[in-house]
Amino acid sequence: MTTPRVTPALEAEDLAARARQVLPGGTTHVARAYTPALYVVRALGSHKWLVDGRELIDYTMGHGALLLGHAHPAVVAAVQSQVAHGTHYGAAHPLEVEWAELITSLVASVGEVRFTASGTEATMLALRIARAATGRDVIAKLQGHFHGWYDAVSVDIDSTGLPVTTAGVPDAVRRDTRVIDPSAPETLTTALEDRSVAALILEVSGARFGHVPLDPAFIRAARALCNETGTLLVFDEVVTGFRVAPGGMQSMVRVTPDLTVFGKVMCGGLPGGAVGGRRELMELLTSTIKHPGTWNANPLTAAAGVATLRIVGDGAPQRAADGYARTLESEWQAALDLVGVPGRVWRLSSIIHIELTDPALHARLADALRKEGIDLLHTSAFCSAVHSLVDLDQSVFAFERALREIAASR
Ligand SMILES: Cc1ncc(COP(=O)(O)O)c(C=O)c1O
Repeated sequence: MTTPRVTPALEAEDLAARARQVLPGGTTHVARAYTPALYVVRALGSHKWLVDGRELIDYTMGHGALLLGHAHPAVVAAVQSQVAHGTHYGAAHPLEVEWAELITSLVASVGEVRFTASGTEATMLALRIARAATGRDVIAKLQGHFHGWYDAVSVDIDSTGLPVTTAGVPDAVRRDTRVIDPSAPETLTTALEDRSVAALILEVSGARFGHVPLDPAFIRAARALCNETGTLLVFDEVVTGFRVAPGGMQSMVRVTPDLTVFGKVMCGGLPGGAVGGRRELMELLTSTIKHPGTWNANPLTAAAGVATLRIVGDGAPQRAADGYARTLESEWQAALDLVGVPGRVWRLSSIIHIELTDPALHARLADALRKEGIDLLHTSAFCSAVHSLVDLDQSVFAFERALREIAASR
């Protein structure tokens, strides 16, 4: 593997200038729009390297997809072997069967699986299945919960109950999405009681993979009310699936959904997603529901996914990542207390969240950390099974230095 050329940071600025000519805002994703620009040329394990040769400890971990770290040898071998055998057969292939078998064997509520090209597509398909199964049009979601970027799930409200929606969503779609405030559980009853809602979709972890935790009592109440009103309960486990436990977060909260949506970890770092659920619901895909898709169960993603699920199925990688995150969580909290920057650090399994009392400091903290060689996803850190004790030491040291920098310039 070639080592990136060590040339001036200018190279990143040159790329950024070219990018601004051809990419809106010079970027491809809002979470990747850094100033100064940052271009990665290589990643391995828990680290990634920039065009200027700098090395970062990575806590974005492929937006949470890489529980086994970058370029895990088993995943690399599986993908290399598959790419040489072809990347699209326009036909069924053995890996899709094994991939689905792994998922159904790990997640108790899933009898059958349909693969998609992304997590967004998978939540979209789950809602289509729910609408077809119930004959209802309306869907319900929880405030702040993210299910991809398409119209129906982009309808939301802010903390005061006012609508917040991206431009470009038709009114007709907006009318068919009800938003429930999870901190006001009575809104759940109000949303479902007229029995016109096909599906209630939610992140079992709470909004933004546990940034706003969801009370398991709310999830149990939602299950009961869905049963009562004939509404299907859809768990979005795109982030939590296979990361927080081999059986997903549903195995921890012990609530059984009707349908579950997966992505990220189950695809081993390649693009994809899946919907799984009870056989009779999934079988609608053989009769009334149409769901084509060029990239469904793409062989390359299937190879990476199968290699990953074979490894994560016994729970050992999750335990390693959780153990690492537990220590980092307490060390980072200790650093906040020591330096005197008010805020808190908490964790869902291997995902750490940081919240400073002054939200204006969030971007500054992330920038200061990047200068210290640490890359977060906003103010969250996805830990992997391959972050090391050396990474831990460096991450603690870097965090304290970054805090001192922002405290000094306050
Ligand atoms: C909970 C959740 N659902 C769905 C999605 C959409 O998945 P994708 O980005 O693969 O389309 C995401 C993406 O981050 C997510 O966090």
